[in-house]
Amino acid sequence: MLIPIDLPRRWDERPVPAEIRLAITAARQRIETFQDCWDRDAIEQFVAADYEAVYQTLAWVKESQPLPGNRFCEWGCGFAVVACLATELGFDSIGIETEPDLIRQGRDTLADWFDPPALGPELVAGNFLPPGTECLADDPTLPSLGHHSDSAYESLGLDLDDFAVVYSYPWPGENDYHCDVFDARAAVGAIHLQFAGPHDVRVYRKTGTRR
Ligand SMILES: C[S@@+](CC[C@H](N)C(=O)[O-])C[C@H]1O[C@@H](n2cnc3c(N)ncnc32)[C@H](O)[C@@H]1O
Repeated sequence: MLIPIDLPRRWDERPVPAEIRLAITAARQRIETFQDCWDRDAIEQFVAADYEAVYQTLAWVKESQPLPGNRFCEWGCGFAVVACLATELGFDSIGIETEPDLIRQGRDTLADWFDPPALGPELVAGNFLPPGTECLADDPTLPSLGHHSDSAYESLGLDLDDFAVVYSYPWPGENDYHCDVFDARAAVGAIHLQFAGPHDVRVYRKTGTRR
């Protein structure tokens, strides 16, 4: 079962270090350029979260929440900005992305952000859905289901329950599905952080009791 965790009052006033703001701004400029050029259908297009808000939330989680380990995963990392933020906060961070164009962009983000880039998160091409979790969706048209890349967990040699924190930015209508996948396969005590829209960052903890 997932328990929502309330963010503290004025969580969004937490300072974001200047060097982090600069790195976010540089990545955002590349994202805007990419979005202006990319010729894929709207449904497939990459949409960027509010990275300052995600940083503020993740920093609070790291500082205040008991965690069952130090591994972090960004589901559908795109430009891998949140995976980089997690590295900055001291997590062992991994980003998973199905779109080859976006994995390349994520690697460029690492090259800009870290010197050498190997100091940044690990990026893996593949599907973030653990095998067998597609059937948890009650709508077969959810965008997360439409990818046929191999499971990223196999190439990582890890399972979803090896991660202490999992972040996602679900497409509209699939927030509950991401929660259900996390609930089914994450470790007890692990945290799921979702960017659900402007000023809507959600934090859940998986407890031992199943619904
Ligand atoms: C709304 S964007 C969010 C990007 C980034 N995480 C952020 O917060 O700015 C969703 C991303 O998830 C990727 N994605 C969707 N379904 C996926 C799946 N099943 N496996 C891997 N990546 C997926 C998309 O290609 C896209 O890059």
